[in-house]
Amino acid sequence: MLEKRFSAREVYKEDLFKGKTILLTGGGSGIGRLIADSFVELGGDVIITSRDEEKLSKTKSEIQKDWKKDITYYVCDISDDKSVKGMVASAFKEKGNIDILINNAGANSLRPTEALTPVRWKAIIDTVLNGTYYVTREVGKRWIKSKYPGNIINVASTTGWTGSPFMAPSGAAKAGIINLGKTLGSEWGRHGIRINDVSPGPVFTKGSFERLWLNEDIIDTIQKKVPLGKFPGPEDIVGSVLFLASPAALMITGASLAVDGGESLKQSFGDLVDQFRPRKNVDEEIL
Ligand SMILES: NC(=O)c1ccc[n+]([C@@H]2O[C@H](COP(=O)([O-])OP(=O)(O)OC[C@H]3O[C@@H](n4cnc5c(N)ncnc54)[C@H](OP(=O)(O)O)[C@@H]3O)[C@@H](O)[C@H]2O)c1
Repeated sequence: MLEKRFSAREVYKEDLFKGKTILLTGGGSGIGRLIADSFVELGGDVIITSRDEEKLSKTKSEIQKDWKKDITYYVCDISDDKSVKGMVASAFKEKGNIDILINNAGANSLRPTEALTPVRWKAIIDTVLNGTYYVTREVGKRWIKSKYPGNIINVASTTGWTGSPFMAPSGAAKAGIINLGKTLGSEWGRHGIRINDVSPGPVFTKGSFERLWLNEDIIDTIQKKVPLGKFPGPEDIVGSVLFLASPAALMITGASLAVDGGESLKQSFGDLVDQFRPRKNVDEEIL
């Protein structure tokens, strides 16, 4: 069914998330779809949400077929706080509690900032930053009230700290999410609630291809500049999300974990160093 999955069982134990309920926004496509798969694989009770019922229902059927396990879905537009309130209330009513929240839903566009209309700017900020905040608040306030030490993982982006040309609203919103994680890491720590983010660099998903990578010819050229030689695939993001959701990360909060093959690191000029500081017999020196 899926072209490439993260094989969670090769790294994590079979029942790692048994008895845990995971609320995952945007779980019907791209990175979120693979995150859903892996939590199910490790015994979690998964709820996915997005705006598209057909996509959610298809994902539910696929997971049923592949893992013989049932998942729950709710149609919800995270940019609409009323829709979020309804979705979170239903999830808590149906499941009794949510243990792990994964804010994965997001939106992006590639456009010169001067050509962006305020409407488009607002639409992306409303989904990425405000939507993440609405879901986080609705879930977090219930945890605080019931004294439950919940765990939040945001799928942010390295654009949140590097910036990225032509992605102003998404980059600004992701910077906001990363900062929100640090603020709440500090503010909600006393309630035992943790919040961290996994920040992917560019990832080839069907969604990102259709929106951003319209010229496939230059992809190879761009990837050669990545220290690890390529961009991560969606399956490469999943392991870090599982790690932050696991007891291995119990003392980690307010952290940002880049999963980008080193793409956001300072450009290495190592290749050029021999040109401005020629050295002889380097091999002998090393040995
Ligand atoms: N791909 C990349 O290069 C890349 C890089 C860095 C970070 N990320 C982040 O990774 C996350 C997943 O992205 P992806 O690459 O997997 O793209 P994707 O396949 O397009 O996934 C985005 C998901 O968000 C959902 N969504 C969008 N707007 C929504 C809204 N208003 N309400 C509810 N759900 C909404 C979409 O579902 P519906 O359309 O059905 O609502 C979709 O399932 C995003 O947060 C993205 O910013 C991606």
